[in-house]
Amino acid sequence: MTSKIAVLLSGHGSTLQALIDAIDAGSLTTNICVVLSDQANAYGLERAKKAGIETALLTKQEYPSREAYDHELIQRLDLLQPNLIILAGFLRILSPLFVNLFKHKIINIHPSLLPKYPGLNTYQQAIKNHDRFHGTTIHYVTDDLDAGPIIAQEKCKIDENDTVETLKQRTQALEHSLYPNVIQALLKTI
Ligand code: GRF
Repeated sequence: MTSKIAVLLSGHGSTLQALIDAIDAGSLTTNICVVLSDQANAYGLERAKKAGIETALLTKQEYPSREAYDHELIQRLDLLQPNLIILAGFLRILSPLFVNLFKHKIINIHPSLLPKYPGLNTYQQAIKNHDRFHGTTIHYVTDDLDAGPIIAQEKCKIDENDTVETLKQRTQALEHSLYPNVIQALLKTI
């Protein structure tokens, strides 16, 4: 039976697009059963609709607490039974309830060489600190922010003239090939 993945995002959705493109190219053999966003104006929702993928919008304003929000998220995902839950620029912190329920099934991609630079503004920090390398990390999601077991990493050089934008472009190019490949490999083991 073909596997399925759920993708959670908050923004532009270039990561989602890389997954859609890999599925179209046949290098990622799975179905995206839902793209769920916490932001109404996330461009990722448009990308999903264009690709004919079911979308869902759950804004935090609709729920009185993180737990209530995550309870709804759990119900929706339970109905769909995805093999993996893929975070693709999802900017909400998930509650321990959610994380523990889907242990070893939630995967995130983070734009730094973890454990360096968890959280936001990773490009700014790497440039400010004159790092020679930056990169991306794919990891399991646990209760600790950006600190779950690492699945894969890839690095790139930082050039002297790099700006946040050029370094982001280089890092995201890595992400867009690494994430589909890692998801494909993980799905084979499930
Ligand atoms: C990616 O660079 C990923 O590393 C981080 O969020 C970014 C999402 O970008 N978690 P996009 O919205 O998929 O373009």
